Amino acid sequence: MSEQTATEGKTYPPDPELSKTANVRPEMKDQDLREFWDEQAKARLDWFQDYDEVLDWNLPYAKWFVGGKLNACYNCVDRHVEGGKGDKVALHVVPDEGPDSPEARDITFSDLQREVVKMANGLKELGVGKGVPVGIYMQMIPEAVVAMLACARLGAPHTVVFGGFSGKAVAERCNDLECKVLITQDEAMRGGKSGAQKTNADEGLDAGPTTVEKVVVVKRSGADIPMGDRDIYLDDLTANVSDDPESCPCEPMDSEDLLFLLYTSGSTGKPKGVVHTTAGYLLGVATTHNLVFDVKDDSVYWCAADIGWITGHSYITYGPLANGCTSVLYEGVPGYPDKDVWWKIVEKYGVTILYTSPTAIKSHMKWGEQHAQGHDLSSIRILGSVGEPINPDVWEWYREHVGGGKAPIMDTWWQTETGHILITPLPGITHLKPGMAQQPFPGVRPEIRDDEGNQLGVEQTGNLVLTQPWPGMMRTLYNDDERFRDTYWSKYSDAYFAGDGAKYDADGDIQLMGRIDDVVNVSGHRLSTFEVESALVEHADVAEAAVAARKDDDTGQAIVAFVSLRGDKQGTEELEQALREQVAQSIGKLARPATVIFASDLPKTRSGKIMRRLLKNLAEGEELGDTSTLVDPTVVEEMQKQMNS
Ligand code: PRX
Repeated sequence: MSEQTATEGKTYPPDPELSKTANVRPEMKDQDLREFWDEQAKARLDWFQDYDEVLDWNLPYAKWFVGGKLNACYNCVDRHVEGGKGDKVALHVVPDEGPDSPEARDITFSDLQREVVKMANGLKELGVGKGVPVGIYMQMIPEAVVAMLACARLGAPHTVVFGGFSGKAVAERCNDLECKVLITQDEAMRGGKSGAQKTNADEGLDAGPTTVEKVVVVKRSGADIPMGDRDIYLDDLTANVSDDPESCPCEPMDSEDLLFLLYTSGSTGKPKGVVHTTAGYLLGVATTHNLVFDVKDDSVYWCAADIGWITGHSYITYGPLANGCTSVLYEGVPGYPDKDVWWKIVEKYGVTILYTSPTAIKSHMKWGEQHAQGHDLSSIRILGSVGEPINPDVWEWYREHVGGGKAPIMDTWWQTETGHILITPLPGITHLKPGMAQQPFPGVRPEIRDDEGNQLGVEQTGNLVLTQPWPGMMRTLYNDDERFRDTYWSKYSDAYFAGDGAKYDADGDIQLMGRIDDVVNVSGHRLSTFEVESALVEHADVAEAAVAARKDDDTGQAIVAFVSLRGDKQGTEELEQALREQVAQSIGKLARPATVIFASDLPKTRSGKIMRRLLKNLAEGEELGDTSTLVDPTVVEEMQKQMNS
């Protein structure tokens, strides 16, 4: 394994063959912003009505393709069928039991169209139509993709809640968007186990008033689950509806109409409903998918993310399907039924493009390269990484053992808010550097600034900002435009503030340095310290809680919770377990603290403010620095003892 680091200057020049045939062309970098996206919009999307204007700049409220009309589902499904690609496989569906399972099946674009039309007709019977929001709480099964597309077909905005989140999270998000209908599945099937899904949703919805009037249940495990008056099985809902596309035409939507909301964690307050609209988002994801992954007609693409995150929205559903690309849709987890299941999938379907997270690659690395070596992975042409910085040694392993020592790795930086990839190497153009996202996508203008707004020089870490609009940019935060401006557009009046630290190297390549706010990134999943703290204090024994992150070899970051207890309550192992369970119940298992530290109080200044810097240092095992402003410095000593024990 190489000990190389990005700063040691190792680069991998592009393969000349790839440079000749790549979809992306070097001159795109220099193209005028409007001209570039206008060309892409004409080449990649079908419009029901042409737009009058490519871009209305007016930041932070830029609008794209003003006056145009289109439908995302039409672009992802119908037009491919109409264009003669109906028999092409849209999804290779790989169930939890892996590609050898009899449940593995292929869904063509024609099949997909029929499924989407049926579900959309069913939803219509429940009153869903243009502008009627729908919640989706599902695992990685094809009906999740079908549900998103059915909503898009009807012009109904969707909000997908990650299947691993709690019922409470589902209810909160559905109520915020005022969803009338929630689509879920009976049970989750992951890693050989079935787990509650629909009953989780019930728990959340029943805990208080809800806007959800109907719950549509997809049968996955077929378990006998409780069904109430509110509930209906999808099979029953669609038993007598037509699957003829003419029975359910695609709703013409304005370019700037809401396509979906996706809630994401901020540094404070409740989750933020990130607003994505139709034309700009769809074009952004289709273009980046095509150019960054060099998608060809015969590509077999696999994005091993989850539909519940933005990566699943942009690069499982909307981008690949808009491009008429064949994808793998995988229900399972890495390592089940066998540690080589991923490589079996690559071999069986001849995957040419694999897009995943550093955390997943690290698991494979830990299990050893023999699993990958036991399979023919020679189909792979391009690799992708997303969600967190990738360590150079992980990058090298990925290239060597998955990419056959030659496949280029696209380390893609972007966010829920940006909608699509913004900083990334480009295939056939970029001289790759392990562990760096490197270069802006055409039309993207990053800068690295200090807190006063000055641009920083080589190797100086500062705040990453973007000065030009891009089509998939978030339009606002749902029902909270003030928070939108405060969070993203107030630090600098003229630029989008991403919340990430970054620096330039001497060649002008960008290296991402992680979040600069209280957002924690566990296995590429975004959580806020505030949300976890709120969950902890819901426990009756907890007086106060503060959360910080520490580095973790497996998950990137891990959560450390500092907790002070009420009265004479003692910090026992049972209580620690109870607190972890409390967080799982309130948010989801992935938010459970890795470490819980009990103390008589939290470190506070005389004005009563918790000294978060100190907690960060404690969590990371760093020098504590000046503690003289604390009311009671012994609190920190107590904590430090526990951290070291
Ligand atoms: O800190 C950056 C990190 O993930 C954050 C965005 O998280 P989320 O909205 O959940 O979207 C994840 C999938 C796009 C960013 O602010 N991040 C994402 N990609 C990278 C990254 N950090 C370093 N390198 C990346 N390639």
